[in-house]
Amino acid sequence: MKSEKETLADLTRGDFPLFSSDQGSTQSLIYLDHAATSQKPHQVISSLQNYYSYYNSNVHRGAHQLSARATEAFEHARQITASFIGASSSREVVFTRNASEGINLVARSWGDSQLGEGDEILLTLMEHHSNLVPWQMLSKRTGCKLVHVGITSNGELDLDDFRAKLNERTRLVSLVHISNTLGCCNPIFEVASLASRHGALVLLDACQSLAHQPVDVKSLGIDFLVGSSHKLCGPTGIGFLWAHEELLKSMPPFLGGGEMIQDVYLDQSSWADLPHKFEAGTPAIGEAIGMGAALNYLKVIGLENIQAWEKIITEYLFESISRIQGLIVYGPSPKVHQNRGPLMTFSVEGLHANDLSAILDTSGICIRSGHHCCQPLHRHLGVTATARASMSFTTTIEELETFTGELTSSIDFLRSHS
Ligand code: ALA
Repeated sequence: MKSEKETLADLTRGDFPLFSSDQGSTQSLIYLDHAATSQKPHQVISSLQNYYSYYNSNVHRGAHQLSARATEAFEHARQITASFIGASSSREVVFTRNASEGINLVARSWGDSQLGEGDEILLTLMEHHSNLVPWQMLSKRTGCKLVHVGITSNGELDLDDFRAKLNERTRLVSLVHISNTLGCCNPIFEVASLASRHGALVLLDACQSLAHQPVDVKSLGIDFLVGSSHKLCGPTGIGFLWAHEELLKSMPPFLGGGEMIQDVYLDQSSWADLPHKFEAGTPAIGEAIGMGAALNYLKVIGLENIQAWEKIITEYLFESISRIQGLIVYGPSPKVHQNRGPLMTFSVEGLHANDLSAILDTSGICIRSGHHCCQPLHRHLGVTATARASMSFTTTIEELETFTGELTSSIDFLRSHS
């Protein structure tokens, strides 16, 4: 029987082989890089092992029992995904390799067929490269214009700038839900309401929010959402695009090949129904099943419980580091910014983030350093690199205490040697 004092981290860490106490050398590892990729619980690992051990087979092809079983599990994973984000139907969920592929799909399919000169896409300064580069490529192909919304001095989306730049030429607003660098959670309902008044669609990059708070596509009022399994305790190589069924139906296919066709002739083909129209070739079957297991796992823990614990540890981290001299933190404080992501991006005057990260690594602490795939944001902030500690529901207060202590010693050490 668990004591009432146990935190969510205490209750869940045993599910993760990496954090379990019989892992020898990794016993004291403090993993604070969950925003780059999440760790995997045994429930996900065993779902992959089961598929590859006992029912590995291609989907939607064979009439044999193994294929039927794989197809059922694969399509069940799609249903789990649809329900996780509040989609109306699993036909609205297209499996992709990752969120980047989901954005590229929208740019190639919807963008190429709908946009041209005179049209505008609104992005923000805080986007990571996945939500910048596909639109730059689209702009080169079609002549549409990219416009960027700024951020406030506090590191939040500048809604006044958004209102000023949104106009009748805006066809799409594509933005991040929680910034992987600033940690701010953007006011998506408000953004989507304003966008829809101008007839613009909204694409939400939910990579950094789906594992940290409940996300419901219908109540947000958005048109597209992309997510990536590896940030959600699931395997790499699988992600998804969600869009309204009617919107997906109106879009031409992105990639051609098997699976996405109805009938093929030598000179022409017709397309399969949704969502298969967008899934050419043999998909990542085991990985989709693993993603379904991961989403079920998060659902059982409860996104509200995750959000509540992560709020406590984020506030704790911000409070503890406020005592460190010369530390500059980017993004709004959790005291003033509701639903903030559980991460902290920072730099230290006179020191390079890579040096800090390398020294912390010698103490078994994993953080990320660099530009976090957000070079334009870093240029705007006037830095080439920052350090980032990102947490999850498995993060304990004790780990953060150790991190803060080691960070202080690392800074002292680097300062004394510089
Ligand atoms: N976008 C990922 C990160 O923030 C890779 O680390």
